[in-house]
Amino acid sequence: MSRKILVTSALPYANGPLHLGHLLESIQTDIWVRYQKLRGNDCIYLCADDAHGTAIMLTAEKLGITPEEQIARVKAEHERDLAGFLIRFDNYHSTHSPECKHYSEEIYRRLDANGHIERRDVTQLFDPEKNLFLADRYIKGSCPKCKTDDQYGDNCEACGATYTPAELINPRSAISGATPIEKSSTHFFFKLGDFENLLRKWTDSDALQPQIANKLREWLDAGLQSWDISRDAPYFGFEIPGAPGKFFYVWLDAPIGYMASCANWCEKNGRDFNEYWGLDSTAELYHFIGKDIINFHGLFWPAMLDSAGFRQPTAIYAHGFLTVNGKKMSKSRGTFIKAETYLKHLPAEYLRYYFAAKLSGAVDDIDLNLEDFINRVNSDLVGKLVNIASRSAKFVQKGNDGKLSASQHNADLWQQVTGASANIAQLYEQREYSKAVREIMALADATNEYFDSCEPWKLAKSDDTVALAADVASQCIDIFRVLTTYLSPVLPELAIKAEQFLNCSLTWQGEFTPLHNHAIEPFKAMMSRVDADKVATMVDESSDNTPAPAPAAKPKQAAKDKDTGITDTIAYPDFAKIDLRVAEIVAAEAVEGADKLLKLTLSLGDLGTRQVFAGIKTAYNAQQLVGKLTVMVANLEARKMRFGMSEGMVLAAGPGDQEIWLLSPDSGAKAGMKIQ
Ligand code: MSP
Ligand code: ZN
Repeated sequence: MSRKILVTSALPYANGPLHLGHLLESIQTDIWVRYQKLRGNDCIYLCADDAHGTAIMLTAEKLGITPEEQIARVKAEHERDLAGFLIRFDNYHSTHSPECKHYSEEIYRRLDANGHIERRDVTQLFDPEKNLFLADRYIKGSCPKCKTDDQYGDNCEACGATYTPAELINPRSAISGATPIEKSSTHFFFKLGDFENLLRKWTDSDALQPQIANKLREWLDAGLQSWDISRDAPYFGFEIPGAPGKFFYVWLDAPIGYMASCANWCEKNGRDFNEYWGLDSTAELYHFIGKDIINFHGLFWPAMLDSAGFRQPTAIYAHGFLTVNGKKMSKSRGTFIKAETYLKHLPAEYLRYYFAAKLSGAVDDIDLNLEDFINRVNSDLVGKLVNIASRSAKFVQKGNDGKLSASQHNADLWQQVTGASANIAQLYEQREYSKAVREIMALADATNEYFDSCEPWKLAKSDDTVALAADVASQCIDIFRVLTTYLSPVLPELAIKAEQFLNCSLTWQGEFTPLHNHAIEPFKAMMSRVDADKVATMVDESSDNTPAPAPAAKPKQAAKDKDTGITDTIAYPDFAKIDLRVAEIVAAEAVEGADKLLKLTLSLGDLGTRQVFAGIKTAYNAQQLVGKLTVMVANLEARKMRFGMSEGMVLAAGPGDQEIWLLSPDSGAKAGMKIQ
């Protein structure tokens, strides 16, 4: 029977761009949802932007736009990036929506009516210039312990001490610089302690991973504190009903955003909200989240749902954090990679596959090692999986007119591949993607071994055995169909290309039956190898360009950084040895017998002319260059080439072919000028 399932990813803040850490979560969730849909379940995947809070208000103010404009911009960017990674939502909404306002107010009213809200006066630091209560991260000052200046209000980055903002020496507002004053106001609290029994039961249920349940038990044993759910104006959010000037704290309405997205989807699709959220709902409800937001989903959310009379989540699925090359993502290392930057250089499916190959159902952190990423994609996807189809197709064309054979050539292997279905299915269901991928790749290995051992390239040489070569190839292609079906939740674009090649749709419901006497299309390239240069460019572009400190010992040779592709730093005197000059191209001609070379005559003004051979013919024709200014290395040792002496070098950028760009100075520069 088909299951009814509602799945969510955590709502990204509408305060900035998505990075690969966010994508770890969306990709994990999207694979699970695509798997459920492929198996015929009635599954929907909902998300939204988390649009409220002080940070968003301040960002908008800095940009000189309204918060509404700011969140609309960011939402469009988020949706563009997520679509780029093939994340297929049924709905992507916003917490700044009428539905979210409605359910936030309604839930709050129910909590209040049930006696679960208390009001208490709280004294807090206040910015008298901005008229704003200051959260800890908006207060800076000197550490009370080690006296280091410019530390945030909750802990010291220099000595690691933790403290309250009131303990800071010379505290000031990080927003206006003003000295904060203490001020009291009434706050609204959700009495979490009232739900201890519910939360203990929930913690002992199957809804949580063991690591998460242990963490919740620690919190429960330490005693549950009431949760401050209000913020004073000015605040970008929803005003609390009956409390002018008081707003819901962003984390109160954030999870309600899941409901809002659902209500919005139900409205558009003629479905009933209560089917998903009502107490007698038969739907399954799963929240995919990162390990940093467990308290909100594991404590506050179930308690709120209970008090307000809605159903509980079926399970919370938490994942670990993404590191890049073994370390926290960092702008100076170029590993804080934005979704947009990645997509500019690399196809989404490479990352989807790599994450899948590493993800498990546990809460462990996941490392994106860029070298491993290149190797893994090249060896598994290009070298093993797609290879099966690309090496087989021609034998089916040659030996059986482009039709898969009428019979099974290796029934044992077919049995082995299709017999793995139940196990692979279960691994997807349990989010053990790395195990599923390993299983699928082992089957691809077995298929390639079978192909090799039959040597169809030899069989195809003789008229007597050319049909046998087609039988082997047909068997391999039919197995390729099953393997791409298994991987289609991870690689939806490859699946579409495979469908076009195989001339049939990929389905995974019930048993796989062999495709016999079936015409396929000629093979077209489905996936190319990862270009290591593109990975290096992506890292380069992600770096905030702070110059790395000069190394203590001078390296003998310009070594390349394995991660970034950038050569090691050199000392200034080394750089100063290079004599860079503005040069005018006074003549240019193609070199006979060389595909890529142009012979350039460069004028350095009073310093005379130089002849330089440059490999730029694929990008420029000689005539268009005459009269242009460019930049040359004027003191490069002359080099005898096949076509004559080359007395220097011009500077150009780009990967090659048509994509080469000569550097040129701004207008006003004169030939011969030294660049410094
Ligand atoms: N807005 C809240 C979530 C509200 S859900 C009702 C939030 N937003 S976030 O943009 O900071 O993070 C969104 C999700 O991305 C979270 O689940 C978070 O754990 C995840 N990740 C953010 N950075 C991450 C990594 N570096 N690695 C893995 N996941 C990461 O929290
Ligand atoms: Zn300190």
